[in-house]
Amino acid sequence: MIKCHQTSFTNKVYSGLDTNIIGKKLLHLKTIDSTNLFIKNMDKKLIQEGIVVVADVQSKGRGRKDRTWTSPKGGLWFSILLFPKIHPKQGMLITMIGSIAVTQGIIELTDLNPEIKWPNDVLLNKQKVCGILTEIEAHKDKINYSIVGIGINVNNILEKELHKSATTLKEVFGSKVSREELLTSILNNFDKNYKKLNSKNYDYIRKLWLSYSNIIGKKIKVEDEKNTYYGIVSDIDEYGHLFLKTNSGQVKIISGDVTYL
Ligand code: BTN
Repeated sequence: MIKCHQTSFTNKVYSGLDTNIIGKKLLHLKTIDSTNLFIKNMDKKLIQEGIVVVADVQSKGRGRKDRTWTSPKGGLWFSILLFPKIHPKQGMLITMIGSIAVTQGIIELTDLNPEIKWPNDVLLNKQKVCGILTEIEAHKDKINYSIVGIGINVNNILEKELHKSATTLKEVFGSKVSREELLTSILNNFDKNYKKLNSKNYDYIRKLWLSYSNIIGKKIKVEDEKNTYYGIVSDIDEYGHLFLKTNSGQVKIISGDVTYL
């Protein structure tokens, strides 16, 4: 049996929330395997759009491509359940709303300058501070549900092997950042932008995302499931797909790992 009651953490977040859908119900767990998995398997009674599950520690945090996501105390590890009324092909927009909300949250709480890296990272000083794992359960043309899992290195200590590519908010900001205040701001921003998705204002999301990303015109390497491409980014479309100008013409990439060159 999982213990998830109201805590001083949830009270602080509730007191600053100004949302219609996101975070109306908030579960705070001390330790769980993964907050995405928790939502996937949770009791039907708890199911409601916008429920947020946050854990102090994840013992089996998962990243993209089944990678392990190290989730010790001090970080912010949470997932949101959504019933988005979009085509499965537009699923990337959910991740975009997540990375925008994280970026806006960091800007609201600090004087830092976060940058979104396609497809689902937020960087500080070119190092990863946040990753997003969006999972979609769809049938034909309809999304049944989506779970967006967000992991942010806040005040946690990073493992040695992550030092090259990742950082924490505390490290860059120079002092501890309140996880409660950060979560509150992210949920408020997520809610605002999720409304734009529900009103089909996809170009608003695309433009906002682009305003926090420096990717257009950048020389990059992208590795997708099958291929590696080199080129210059020419656009991100309303589906969140990346257009790359390569030596052999323009390529559209749906998902992949990007390296700036
Ligand atoms: C990535 O960059 O590979 C995505 C990392 C996503 C991590 C978050 S932490 C909260 C949620 N629960 C998980 O198991 N994963 C996501």
